[in-house]
Amino acid sequence: MEIIRTPAEMTAWANRALAARETIALVPTMGSFHEGHLRLMRKARERAGRTVVSLFVNPIQFGASEDLGRYPRDFPRDCQLAEAEGVDVLFAPEAQTMYPPEASTRVIVSGLTDVLCGRSRPGHFAGVTTVVAKLFHLIKPHFAVFGEKDFQQLAVIRRMVADLNWDVEIIGHPIVREVDGLAMSSRNIYLSVPERQAALCLFKAIGQARKRVRAGLVEATLLLREIEELLQQAAVTVEYASLVDQTTLQPQAVLGKGTVLALAVKVGATRLIDNDNLFEEG
Ligand code: PAF
Repeated sequence: MEIIRTPAEMTAWANRALAARETIALVPTMGSFHEGHLRLMRKARERAGRTVVSLFVNPIQFGASEDLGRYPRDFPRDCQLAEAEGVDVLFAPEAQTMYPPEASTRVIVSGLTDVLCGRSRPGHFAGVTTVVAKLFHLIKPHFAVFGEKDFQQLAVIRRMVADLNWDVEIIGHPIVREVDGLAMSSRNIYLSVPERQAALCLFKAIGQARKRVRAGLVEATLLLREIEELLQQAAVTVEYASLVDQTTLQPQAVLGKGTVLALAVKVGATRLIDNDNLFEEG
């Protein structure tokens, strides 16, 4: 596996791969790999001849009071795991090379970024779309694979790609869960034992919602009331529990195909999100 540290070298590699008529898949990450990331890498390898994983803790997507400084980092372990997955290139640039002092451009998707996580994390999605746009330009992938746990992020990136007529296929990978149902996340490492237990309310809420939908419930307000009650019984602070359309992210009054239950809670100091497309097999 090749480790590339600068945007210029990354582009030179991509140009060589394209000249050799290779297909390129990209898995954008912030490192601290868990099984969820490894599945994204496997999916990328199924789709393309060459797989690039970017590992960059993107400073501009963190708010001032967020966890940029303590975000988990373990570069040697991440290198070993990516190499074992057969990744061709690990692109791990320094922040100064991605954002030199004179850089002053942001890529902004409006509308979709004002709701759900966008409300409590102003500027977060502009940071995400800016870095993903830069990665797409540097690496020129045919495919890019993202986890569905960050379901709003995926919707925003799909919108950006469609709006900018980008010739890259965006592939979503289903949420990967621990055996007890907690969605895998690099931030799970922050949880104490009781917090880890409290965090299970997210998966319980999803199970409850699925059960009610299977029983024929279609009224969103009724389901939301039940879900909020369930979450409030756990030692967490609910940031939002919403039933929204998977593409527009608009709240749905009547549940139906494409309705997603989207959840965000704070467990102690750790913010966790989860979601479920309630009418999909699962
Ligand atoms: O999902 C993430 O890890 C990040 O938001 C991403 C897509 C790598 C951009 O920094």
